[in-house]
Amino acid sequence: MPEQIILTGDRPTGPLHLGHYVGSLANRVNLQEKYKQYILIADIQALTDNVDNPQKVHDNVLQVALDYLAVGIDPKKSTICIQSMIPEIAELTIYYLNLVTVNRLRRNPTIKTEIKQKGFGEHLTAGFLMYPVHQAADITVFRGSLVPVGEDQLPMIEQTNEIVRAFNRIYKTNVLVEAKGLVSKMSRLPGIDGKAKMSKSLGNAIFISDDADTVTKKVMQMYTDPDHIRVEDPGKIEGNTVFEYLDVFDPDKVELEKMKVHYQQGGLGDVKVKRHLSQVLNTFLEPIRQRRAELEKDPGYVMDVLIKGSHCAREAAQMTMQGVRKAMKLDYPK
Ligand code: TRP
Repeated sequence: MPEQIILTGDRPTGPLHLGHYVGSLANRVNLQEKYKQYILIADIQALTDNVDNPQKVHDNVLQVALDYLAVGIDPKKSTICIQSMIPEIAELTIYYLNLVTVNRLRRNPTIKTEIKQKGFGEHLTAGFLMYPVHQAADITVFRGSLVPVGEDQLPMIEQTNEIVRAFNRIYKTNVLVEAKGLVSKMSRLPGIDGKAKMSKSLGNAIFISDDADTVTKKVMQMYTDPDHIRVEDPGKIEGNTVFEYLDVFDPDKVELEKMKVHYQQGGLGDVKVKRHLSQVLNTFLEPIRQRRAELEKDPGYVMDVLIKGSHCAREAAQMTMQGVRKAMKLDYPK
């Protein structure tokens, strides 16, 4: 059995939120104990829909790195790297583009949804349409075999594996390895408005970097049971965002069960439950916030982690590229 390598990443377009924590960060903190793990801050991918805002992407590279370190991703165990510092990824992308049809990219469900959401219309760029190919290069250049992702990213892995199979078949090699998606067992966290997905662009996110007052304010706005009007009314738990969050974050499940019974019977008001949730979240976030504040005082250290990680990642990428160039008969003497 070859060594399993984990490859994950995020676009640095904003600070990370609790949805990221539940969907992937918590998972990565655990996985780093058992596997070789690369975490890629995908700045070039972020530019595909932020063409005219390089400053935003640049600034968020540091913000995302701060979030990683604050939640417990340990640079001694995981390799955190910046996509643009590994030019081999861009090189590999160009080679892959010959193996993918434009029609196949247009049919990629993740891309299809995004193109619609962002309303590109006639202005859809080649760069955006082909970012799944770029992502396939992210994964394969490190010989990533396990990719922990949200369900919405599974089509990306399918597309990656199609490229891997085509490459290995056409160039008669096994230099590339197929990847498997690892969908987090933890539930997906809805936004504070009760919508299925927490996201910065929907304005329904609680950020890891939010201070305690902001968290409380957001919890107080949270969607509950719209029919639960008076305290004495019986309330519904299903689809009640406050209880969905408590299910994930409240460590005292016995008390939580009692609260649920009380709420369903009537006599327990939303404000009380929300105060409890706000306390639970702030207790959870406080140590993370403190670590983040400490690290924020030393951006030089954080940058150093990223640069060292990128150099180390680049060496791994260069190894793969030797095999790739050889298979493609592009390995001229130096
Ligand atoms: N597309 C991912 C997102 O939008 C980020 C990403 C870039 C990624 N490269 C990756 C995820 C490689 C997993 C593996 O969140």
